Parts: sequence; structure tokens; C-alpha cells
Amino acid sequence: MIIKNIRIVDDIQDFIGDILVREGVVAAVGKNLPNNEELQYDYSGQKVVLLPAFTDLHAHFRDPGFTYKEDVISGSRAAISGGFTAVNLMPNTNPVCSSLELVKDVEKRIQEVGIITANQTLSMTKDLQGKDYEHLKKLKKEEILFVTDDGKGVNDDMVMEEIFKICKEKEIIIMSHAEDSRYSATDMRKAENEMTFRDLRLCEKHEGKIHFCHVSTIEAIEAIAEYKAKGVQVTCEVTPHHITTTGEETNHYRVNPPLREQKDIDALIKAIQGGVVDAIATDHAPHTTEDKINGAPGMTGLEIAFPLSYTALVKTGKITLQQLVKIMSTTPSAMMRLKKGRVGEGLDADFVIVELETPYMIDSAQFVSKGKNTPFRGKKVYGKIIGIFRKGILYKKEPYITQNN
Ligand code: NCD
Ligand code: ZN
Ligand code: ZN
Ligand code: ZN
Repeated sequence: MIIKNIRIVDDIQDFIGDILVREGVVAAVGKNLPNNEELQYDYSGQKVVLLPAFTDLHAHFRDPGFTYKEDVISGSRAAISGGFTAVNLMPNTNPVCSSLELVKDVEKRIQEVGIITANQTLSMTKDLQGKDYEHLKKLKKEEILFVTDDGKGVNDDMVMEEIFKICKEKEIIIMSHAEDSRYSATDMRKAENEMTFRDLRLCEKHEGKIHFCHVSTIEAIEAIAEYKAKGVQVTCEVTPHHITTTGEETNHYRVNPPLREQKDIDALIKAIQGGVVDAIATDHAPHTTEDKINGAPGMTGLEIAFPLSYTALVKTGKITLQQLVKIMSTTPSAMMRLKKGRVGEGLDADFVIVELETPYMIDSAQFVSKGKNTPFRGKKVYGKIIGIFRKGILYKKEPYITQNN
């Protein structure tokens, strides 16, 4: 098939042209490609842009165990709906993903759903208890990309030090949910900062690789920038919500880490501009209304990550669309070792078609995800997803938005 006459934007190119696709893979990209294809998608005259589909380094599909919040089917559909064709899933399921068997089972079931690619992370300690890491010792080199206890930090410095040693040997990236629970009740800023500083020190000492999840404070992002500049192998993500709104503005909508202050937003955006932030990740954390009332932290993210990020970063002129593509597609795809994240020959034909000029209101009732939990209901945004190609197959966007005329 061929996609014709569309503005193609990725991290290194921006032009109007065509894409030839063969068996789900890009066969050619260019201007006025020779065209004898039976299946043609011609976008001439339409004010839309084609981007490489997004990759989310951080999502919760709640499967197994909490499938009333989300499952592999609803999660896959929410991802596609938001322009994501690849996701990295967190292990705080029930049972916890503490074994390779369970990791493989989740990945297999998502493959059977058949609309996205998933990597399931393995818990860093058994059942997220913060103590036992025996299961890591049995791993073969490169059998697992990431380990994480996301949802919790590992408080014990000795345990963390041992985990760094094992992961160094097996070339595994540690994903840190930096929250020292000794401070959680009293000072959530200190909780994030102290564990970020500790993990940076350990990473430097053991020459490991660490990725910081949902960085949210000025102190944490500045420390990460400092260690990166020293050459320590550290990467980080920020979420759309942490760069969009403050605790005050949302009546302290519950999420971990909490929504912070304007000075933190400014520091995170500065870090995005300076290339310190490797990825925008959703931390898609679906919950039922009842669970939210009972205090469950988190918000659904997959279906509004692009419009929130586009509106906060590109519409305001803080970064270019190419820079946004780099942190939503190119770098996270590379970190997951996928053949995607750019529009180029030999890469997967995974694209998202967006319309950038018409504002609309977020309507969470229309989310495909089971989780309707968001503080962004009614927020005016730009960056509407019109369609998504995955391995050359077009999925029409399900409507979750109301036009704002
Ligand atoms: C996440 C969840 O619900 O699993 N909640 C959240 O507030 N972010 C856990 C996490 O990412 O820490
Ligand atoms: Zn977390
Ligand atoms: Zn307040
Ligand atoms: Zn999370």
C-alpha cells in the first residue's frame, strides 16, 4: 500500500511526501514515489501530519489481577487510540510480575490481542516487598530489558546496591520509582529527591544503567542533568500531567509522584528543551471511580498524552514538533529496542495521523480505557489523533472528543 501527499515529520525530517509499505514495513519514503498500489491513502488537501507512532515506556494494564481497572484488551485499544503502538508495562499486577513465566504470559496475551507490541517488565524485588531479589540472579543476560518496583521505592540501600550489581552484570536497566516511603507521609518532595540522589550515587558507583520514572521535582531533574553531564548512564521520563498542571490547580488530584508547583513544571520543560529528558511516558494508571474515592493514586494517560504534550510544549513554542516526536517515539522506541520510532526504510509502518489546528475538549467519558480517572476533563487541547497505522494496517480513531466550535 501507499500513503500519499502527507506532511511527514519525525526527529530528522519534515516534508510533504509518500510512504510505500510492504508487509507492514516501510519500503520507501520520498517525494512522488512511483505508484501502482491497489491500496492508497491520499491525504492531499487535508491539513494533517503523519508522525511515527508513539512508544510508552510506562503503562499499567492491571492484567492479571486488577482487570476490572484495565486488561490486555482494553489497554491495547486505549494505546492504539492514543497513537501508541508499543508499551512497556509495569509489574504491579496480582500476582506481581516477579517471574519470567508471568512476564512471558502477559506478553503472549497482548500479542494475541494483536494490535500493539508490549514489553512486560519484571519486578526488581519479589512481590514488590523491597527485600528479596533472588529471582534476578537466575536471569540470563539480556533476557529482560527492565526491572522495576514501580509503585514503590526500594528503601533499603544494601538491597538496592546488590540489585545494581546484578543488573550491571546482566545488562538490565533499572527503572526507579523514586519514593523513599519513610518521608511519604510527611514530605513527598523529599521522598522523591532523596531516593533520586541515592540511586544516582549508586548508579555512578556501580557503573550501572538507571532510568528514572515520572520525574517531577526541580531538585530531581537538576540532579539527573548533573549526573548525565558527568557521563553516568542515566535516562529519564516525565509524564504529560507533571508538565501540564500543578497540585493547586487540580485540587491536589491524587497521583504519585504528586502534581507539583509551577517552578517544577518550568524546570521539567527546561530539561525537555535541553535534551535532558529522554521520553514522555504516560504512567497510564487506570482506576475505577470507587477506587479513586478510596484514595488510589494515578490517572489514565494513554489517550491524552499526545494532545496534552503537544498543547503544553509545541503549541506554546517551547519545543518543535520534531523534538516532541523524538521523546514520544524515537528515543523510547530505541530504549525498547524496537524497529520503529522514525519514518524510514526497513522500519515498522507504525504511524499516527494528527490534526493540529482545531481545538477540542477532553471528554473522559469517551475514553476507550476502562479508567476514566483524569483531572483533565473539559480541558481545551490541540492535537487530535485522526488515525493510526500499525504494521501498515489503518485503525480509525474511535471518537473520544467533542468538537469545540
Ligand atoms: C501507579 C499505579 O496506580 O499503579 N500510580 C500512580 O499514582 N502513579 C503506580 C506508580 O506509577 O507509581
Ligand atoms: Zn511509579
Ligand atoms: Zn492546595
Ligand atoms: Zn507507574
